[in-house]
Amino acid sequence: MPTPSSLQIRQASARDAAGIAAVMELIVAERIHSAVDRAWTIDQEHRYLAALSPREAIHVAVDVAGHIVGFQSLDLWSPVLTSMAHVGQVGTFLLPEWRRRGVGHQLWQATEAFACNAEYRKLLIQVRASNLAAQAFYRRLGFKECGRFSLQVIVDGIADDEILMEFFLPD
Ligand SMILES: CC(C)(COP(=O)(O)OP(=O)(O)OC[C@H]1O[C@@H](n2cnc3c(N)ncnc32)[C@H](O)[C@@H]1OP(=O)(O)O)[C@@H](O)C(=O)NCCC(=O)NCCS
Repeated sequence: MPTPSSLQIRQASARDAAGIAAVMELIVAERIHSAVDRAWTIDQEHRYLAALSPREAIHVAVDVAGHIVGFQSLDLWSPVLTSMAHVGQVGTFLLPEWRRRGVGHQLWQATEAFACNAEYRKLLIQVRASNLAAQAFYRRLGFKECGRFSLQVIVDGIADDEILMEFFLPD
């Protein structure tokens, strides 16, 4: 198995739509990790990437063959409220064989640096309550639990809460 150090971490462009959509298709097929229960088509992903504002980004982890093995997104929490322009929203998704090998942490280093440059002051995530691995991951990055949406997600008839976690960037 190649090591995570062989991966390149870089900001995605619209040309990465197919690779990102493929990762998301796998995550959605697993059914247990995310509230996202339908993957976007490549075309939808392409339009989303092309429409990102300069303060939003996806960072991708790319193997030596050029395949995307995971990504981390940073979006504005609210694209309309200037009162919340300092708040971003994060999501992280890796192919199964690349999990628990430090790739999420590598992506975070790129996202955190980008978020500092883009003058965010806090980042939020929503994680399914049943997804204890992701909560442990974000806790390790410094996120703290700050709330809960009850009965927020129903996937295949199975209900789940969502945990809110927040992270304050250094001034
Ligand atoms: C959750 C996810 C993004 C974490 O990324 P990762 O690359 O696997 O995490 P890392 O290897 O960088 O782990 C960093 C630290 O987070 C914690 N952590 C990560 N995965 C964990 C797990 N399964 N159980 C417990 N702690 C975990 C550990 O403290 C770990 O450090 P350590 O390995 O030195 O103990 C990744 O596993 C994933 O894509 N999972 C499926 C999709 C998903 O659940 N996404 C989140 C939706 S909100």
